[in-house]
Amino acid sequence: MIFMEGKIRIVKTGTPGLDELFTKGGFIHNSSVLLSGEPGAGKSIIAMQYIYNGARIYGEVGVYVTSEQSIEKLRENAKELGMDFSELEEKGLVKLMKIPVTRGYEMASDELMKEIKKEGVKRVAIDSITPLENLSSDIRAFRVRILTFIETVTSQNITLLVTAEKRKTDFDNMEFSPEDFLFDGLIMMGRLRKAVSFERVLSVIKMRGTKHSEELYPVEINNSGLIIKNLEE
Ligand SMILES: Nc1ncnc2c1ncn2[C@@H]1O[C@H](COP(=O)(O)OP(=O)(O)O)[C@@H](O)[C@H]1O
Ligand SMILES: [Mg+2]
Repeated sequence: MIFMEGKIRIVKTGTPGLDELFTKGGFIHNSSVLLSGEPGAGKSIIAMQYIYNGARIYGEVGVYVTSEQSIEKLRENAKELGMDFSELEEKGLVKLMKIPVTRGYEMASDELMKEIKKEGVKRVAIDSITPLENLSSDIRAFRVRILTFIETVTSQNITLLVTAEKRKTDFDNMEFSPEDFLFDGLIMMGRLRKAVSFERVLSVIKMRGTKHSEELYPVEINNSGLIIKNLEE
């Protein structure tokens, strides 16, 4: 399924309520987007939905790379959120990959590039790049590696979503990490305190090539997945 906004091709995010935050109705085709935020904010779920719904709803082949958990665990977690990856994997619409981050780790590894270059792959999600940052000897080296990776992947006709862990997301007093500057788009996720509980929130900070909402939106997670609550109810 191909979505156009004027001459620009749009890639639907696969998360209910998220496309509407972008004036053009989704990510720009061939762009790179960083999803940054606190642990437990919902980053991995949005990354899974990007690949899962990308394949199931939009028929676009996707590769999901986890550096954090086993593929088995990933499939199980996804099921709890209403996503059954196995069927899409069997059909060749989704490839789940575990790429452990170790010393000498190469982001655009042969293993990954081989998958990405396969026929029809349109979406790649990397969850997350934070272990790589911890491994890099200095920030300059880390930035160069990320930029090279973004260039390598997006030059393959792919729209890239990458997650990164932030220790703290303070929406009143934003602080940015080195990786926040490297991508075409930046989405932040975190928590706001509401009396005695916390509410998960999301905000689009930047998106090259499209206007976007500047507001903070509540995020809801349940057995059917994650949604952004941006509609009047
Ligand atoms: N079925 C579910 N119902 C409600 N909340 C869930 C469900 N599954 C996961 N969650 C919540 O989602 C959070 C994990 O989201 P995740 O995307 O893994 O966060 P992260 O930003 O760290 O990647 C968990 O902290 C959990 O509270
Ligand atoms: Mg995660």
